Amino acid sequence: MAPPTPASSSTLPPGPSYPAWWQLVRFAGDPLVLLDECHRRYGDKFTLRIAGNGRFVMLSNPQVVREVFQGDPDVLHSGEANSLFTATVGRHSVLVLDGAPHMRQRRVLVPPLKGERMRLFFDAMRLETLETVRAWPIGTPFPTLPSMRRVTLRVILRSGLGLATGPELDRFERKMETFLSNGRQRYALVLMTIVPIERLTGSRWVPLFRQLRDLDDDLFAFIAARRKGQHTVAGPNVLDDLLGAQHEDGTPLGDREVRDALITILIAGHETTALALSWALADIAQHPEVVNRLGEELAQVTGGGPPSAEHLPALEYLDGAIRESLRLHPVAPFVVRKTMQPFSVDDREYPAGVVLCPCSYLVHQREELYPAPGRFRPERFLERKFGPHEWFPFGGGNRICLGMPFALYEMKVLIATLLSQVRPTRPAGACSHARRYGIVLGPDDGGRIIVQPLRSHD
Ligand code: HEM
Repeated sequence: MAPPTPASSSTLPPGPSYPAWWQLVRFAGDPLVLLDECHRRYGDKFTLRIAGNGRFVMLSNPQVVREVFQGDPDVLHSGEANSLFTATVGRHSVLVLDGAPHMRQRRVLVPPLKGERMRLFFDAMRLETLETVRAWPIGTPFPTLPSMRRVTLRVILRSGLGLATGPELDRFERKMETFLSNGRQRYALVLMTIVPIERLTGSRWVPLFRQLRDLDDDLFAFIAARRKGQHTVAGPNVLDDLLGAQHEDGTPLGDREVRDALITILIAGHETTALALSWALADIAQHPEVVNRLGEELAQVTGGGPPSAEHLPALEYLDGAIRESLRLHPVAPFVVRKTMQPFSVDDREYPAGVVLCPCSYLVHQREELYPAPGRFRPERFLERKFGPHEWFPFGGGNRICLGMPFALYEMKVLIATLLSQVRPTRPAGACSHARRYGIVLGPDDGGRIIVQPLRSHD
């Protein structure tokens, strides 16, 4: 396909007129303040000009979002807009592909991350959570984010690679954590814009790529050993699914494809879920009436015992609390679709080369959908159902997050297990604001809570 021609600014919705570099700094530093400010001033569609990144049209009318999600994937490319990540996730990653190659990689990754298959990861999730909660201080405020990172990383490593607890899991955990910590700086986006990442790819002078190469060496050795059946597998895992999968023409996945798929789920599935969990725990702890109701629901469903996989579907109020926290605090406040050809929506033709951004953060604040939108009210999700263009913390359409069932399940297992052990509250005066951790958002105080023990079942 021919490269998109640059968009003519006169055809785009209005937006801030100050310099693009300052829009980049604000967008990187405090994106929600910028989004709120522009929404107040310009309404449901506005254009940000982000230096080095292009024109981003933020869309917050649910009907328009629906049309974008249903738009032709050959016209609206997400992989193209995500190309920044190719240096780390690789060129076969579902994140950076479009069209038929994208659908091919998606088909391979969907089965292991949903339905019955995913429920086999319950034990790993529960045991890692119990291990973590045992180490929490009693009666003293602490941020949950570091421990949520640890649990979600270990869970995704166990589910992804089929590792048992032990030195090998610990080694992968250390290497992943070292590698990922590079990308968590608040102004990572500014750095990536000033120093184009593709120019540095593979450089051993850049810690990120040195660590990635080290991790890759281990991953390729691991894949080779698994192909030869030289490795003991601790449980069901995504790697075995990938090694057993075939493309439609019957060819198996090559080592590079397997590596790119694995690194994608390890990266995409870990920090996002950890941040969402620390928001959810902070939101729950902030509301004693919610903690009480969750406690009552747990006791009623489990009969006072530890929650098991069979109990989870009946924990409906907990499900509402998780969805409500993701509504208030989407870790990715918008998603990206780059127009490859002119695209018409909302009585306007957008030229090629513009990034259309369905903005969950702004849609989730709409009074007509969510009365008193600033309030944390899990009941909303019991009172009515929201459409995929009204609640979309996981994006939508043909690019909807592949890990959504996995993440919602994991959040439920972790929070139910935690609440069966401790009662959380918030420290007096605690108030978390969103801040950037790399490209995603999380609580600036790491989601500080205080816990008191309930009883131990294990
Ligand atoms: C609370 C946790 C998570 C949140 C909030 C989240 C959010 C998102 C969002 C907003 C997108 C972009 C969707 C779009 O463009 O429409 C996405 C894509 C993706 N996510 Fe997640 N995610 C989470 C957890 C996970 C997990 C656990 C995995 C894997 C195990 C995962 C794997 C992916 C992949 C592979 C994609 C790319 C899909 C594609 O381009 O076709 N995510 N996620």
